[in-house]
Amino acid sequence: MTCLIVCGGQWGDEGKGKIVAYLTLKDNAAITCRAGTGPNAGHTVTYKGRKRGLSQVPSGYVNENTLLRLGPGFLVDPEKFLKEVELTNTKTRIGVDRRCAIVEQKHIQAETSSEHLSKTLGTTKTGIGPASADRVLRVAQRATEIESLKPFVRDVPKEIHDALDSGGFVCVEGSQGYGLSLYYGTYPFVTAKDTTAGTFAADVGVGPKQVDHVILVFKAFPTRVGGGSFPTEMSLEEADHRGFVEYGTVTGRRRRVGKFDMEQATEAVRVNCPTQIALTFIDRLDPQASKARQLHELNDEAQRFIEELEGTLKRPVTLVSTGPEVYDIIDLRKEKIP
Ligand code: GTP
Ligand code: IMP
Ligand code: MG
Repeated sequence: MTCLIVCGGQWGDEGKGKIVAYLTLKDNAAITCRAGTGPNAGHTVTYKGRKRGLSQVPSGYVNENTLLRLGPGFLVDPEKFLKEVELTNTKTRIGVDRRCAIVEQKHIQAETSSEHLSKTLGTTKTGIGPASADRVLRVAQRATEIESLKPFVRDVPKEIHDALDSGGFVCVEGSQGYGLSLYYGTYPFVTAKDTTAGTFAADVGVGPKQVDHVILVFKAFPTRVGGGSFPTEMSLEEADHRGFVEYGTVTGRRRRVGKFDMEQATEAVRVNCPTQIALTFIDRLDPQASKARQLHELNDEAQRFIEELEGTLKRPVTLVSTGPEVYDIIDLRKEKIP
């Protein structure tokens, strides 16, 4: 039995979706379960040339043997959920915990018309803040009250525990990143919830001692969408010049880009306590390494950067992502994990 949590070390969009898709396929997960916030988090999976941006369906959908679940901590937008289920053809193997709270149209409207949220903070207009507030006020709707969700309602923590008890691999898919955590991030420019490993465990109903691995994902060049400080940000001109152009999965907004921030990474390691690090976008540091699957294909600068990360953060870099496709990855786990 292995329980693994994937979380982000910067301002989200580190490529957690791609890492989760890879692990779900490679290690044949029994269950891949979404933790974290809800429809504000867009995870992109590119598999066999097809790119999908998902905000509800777990990225592990690419493995047809895997059960897909949404943990009790997750906020469900029923309309988006049903649309994505249809799109990914996952109706027979997806389930929502009965305790999940619901994002309603009124939450989206409240956020859109709130100057503070959608303008000053630059939120995603997916209703997360107002829906989370209603949950805390204990007036939120829950999955069992929504007719269209009834066929999908499950006891997700029980299913996860059963899967672990029978020797299965459970992959927990976190969202956003350390810098967007309600507790640890650049408040008030943060999301409506903590976004570190401990919360993701609680989101799906596993206790801290049941978690075997925490993978913290870092982008070689971090990005941020919306407002808030970004100490290592580069100018738009420099980002353009270097070809670092990315747009948000949910909002379509241009992502701000910066240089790697070791100070932020050190803090994210402290709080998430990862057992492994995944590094994405190494193809931005070494464009020749795009799609590489072996460490020796990386140039000296990229290899030195990995060594520097391991030396400073005192954790093994076990996965190095070399492009958006699921199998564009260097998997060093066999060599680095005893
Ligand atoms: P949040 O939960 O919203 O934080 O998202 P996420 O961490 O799942 O990341 P998201 O999919 O929103 O953004 C990452 C983007 O980078 C996607 O378009 C991926 O397809 C792409 N991507 C992932 N890994 C790599 C990589 O190693 N190289 C390149 N060039 N693109 C990558
Ligand atoms: P909210 O989560 O929609 O309330 O937005 C709060 C802040 O978090 C804004 O700066 C958003 O751009 C950012 N944010 C929320 N979700 C994501 C995500 O999945 N990726 C990147 N940024 C996000
Ligand atoms: Mg994203």
